[in-house]
Amino acid sequence: MAVERTLSIIKPDAVAKNVIGQIVARFEEAGLKVVEMQMKSLSKEEAEGFYAEHKERPFFGDLVAFMTSGPVVVQALEGENAILVNRELMGATNPKDAAEGTIRRDFAESIDANAVHGSDSATSAAREIAYFFGK
Ligand code: TYD
Ligand code: MG
Repeated sequence: MAVERTLSIIKPDAVAKNVIGQIVARFEEAGLKVVEMQMKSLSKEEAEGFYAEHKERPFFGDLVAFMTSGPVVVQALEGENAILVNRELMGATNPKDAAEGTIRRDFAESIDANAVHGSDSATSAAREIAYFFGK
C-alpha cells in the first residue's frame, strides 16, 4: 500500500450542524492526517468547476446551489490508502444506503445534503487537491 492524498470537503449541511470536529476526528482515528485545511464559501464558479464532471446531470443546478449555500471545510488528507479509506468512512452517496457508523449515515439527511465529499480515484484526488490548494 502506498501513502496517498485525497480531497475531503465537509459540506454546508455538516458545517451548519456543528459537526466539523466530529468528522475530522473520524479521519484522525482512521489514521488520516489533515495536511491542508481551509474554511471558505464557494463561489458559483468554484462549485461548478469542482463538479464539472456532473454538469450534464439533472441534479447539477441543485448541487451547485447547495454547495454555495454556506461555508465548507476543504481538506487534503494523507495516509495509507487514503482515497479508499476516506470513501469507506464516508459511506454511500445516499445516506439511506450508507452503512452503520459511516459519516453519511450518522450526519447526513438526504442524497443532496450528504455531509461530505471525497475524491473517488487517484486521478480525481490529484485534480481536486490542485483545484483548491495548487501544485
Ligand atoms: P457523486 O460523485 O455520484 O457521489 P459522491 O459524492 O458519493 O462521490 O455525486 C456528487 C454529489 O452530487 C453527491 O455527493 C450528491 C449529489 N447527487 C445528487 O444530489 N443526486 C444524485 O442522484 C447523485 C448521484 C448525486
Ligand atoms: Mg463523486
